[in-house]
Amino acid sequence: MSIRIAGTGSYVPEKILTNADLEKLVDTNDEWIKTRTGIAERHIAADDEACSDMAVAAARQALDMAGISASELSAVIVATTTPDHIFPNTASLALDRLGGKGAFCFDLSAACSGFISSLEAAYALMCTRSQYRYALVIGSEKLSIITNWSDRNTCVLFGDGAGAAVLENTADAGPNTILAADFHADGSLGSLLTLPAGGSRQPATAATVAAHLHTIHMEGRETFKHAVNAMTGACRTVLETAGVRAEQLKLVIPHQANIRIIQAVSQRLGVEDARVFCNIAHYGNTSAASIGICLDEAVRGGRLERGDLVLLTSFGSGLTWGAMLLKY
Ligand code: COA
Repeated sequence: MSIRIAGTGSYVPEKILTNADLEKLVDTNDEWIKTRTGIAERHIAADDEACSDMAVAAARQALDMAGISASELSAVIVATTTPDHIFPNTASLALDRLGGKGAFCFDLSAACSGFISSLEAAYALMCTRSQYRYALVIGSEKLSIITNWSDRNTCVLFGDGAGAAVLENTADAGPNTILAADFHADGSLGSLLTLPAGGSRQPATAATVAAHLHTIHMEGRETFKHAVNAMTGACRTVLETAGVRAEQLKLVIPHQANIRIIQAVSQRLGVEDARVFCNIAHYGNTSAASIGICLDEAVRGGRLERGDLVLLTSFGSGLTWGAMLLKY
């Protein structure tokens, strides 16, 4: 058994929202946003473009690179906080649109940690049963619909998009792509980053809509602190587990939430900027899509070759966090 990443893909919507555009919506400015977050612009999905539409666009590229059709997939996982519907799950809808049928499909809710959590879930399935020959993992988010466009603390941070990867279990004896992984959650900190209403705790009413309770609420400074500590800890654990030193890493792909979080984590790990993948300036925080988009850009941009060691790490609502070491 040898499990590897056979293909990657990504998609961002056409419409770009710049910091200058945001200056017209809230009391903010380009300089504040760039220096405090590293973000210059983000992509915003069209009104008629849902989570599954972006998921399908990213998945098509990943399937093409893997050289397989959707009918060969035995599992599809979509990581998202903005599914098309509460049910049916977005994974089933995406598989249908891709032309597949019958695969094990589910959505995974781990906010910004969703993409690497889904890679871990797919990998675990493939290790358990040989029937999972090809698994498609997608992170797709339309965060623009859960953004409070009158709250300058949060509306400058997020963007829409999707990233995808196909995992293949080749029958050959050989190395696995995922060398080590470490995942955690702490629900006692759930209120730091939450979408308060719309679930069974606080169902949708006219009052919850008027109070903006269907949009992202975040305690930025506290979240920042936990993000740095949690990602650094998880990264150190996977490196230690795999017996790999930071100098051996070709690339670190951190979740793109804030350039200062990325820099703090990479400095603590002793990895210089040149080996840290960063595209936050153009996309902002795309939550579950962010690492998938980065991975695809790193592969297509020639920054990752087969056999390179790459460290993925993420942090998000839950709180959830984790790290994963790949031999690409
Ligand atoms: N434009 C201008 N000023 C802004 C602003 C904006 N868009 N947003 C906040 N400010 C102001 C604040 O009101 C505050 O003003 P005050 O001192 O007069 O009250 C000041 O800037 C500093 O706010 P603070 O929240 O301390 O800023 P910060 O340096 O912590 O940056 C975040 C704010 C949100 C960028 C930062 O905390 C962060 O990135 N947190 C983690 C977010 C994250 O990663 N979330 C997702 C995890 S997956």
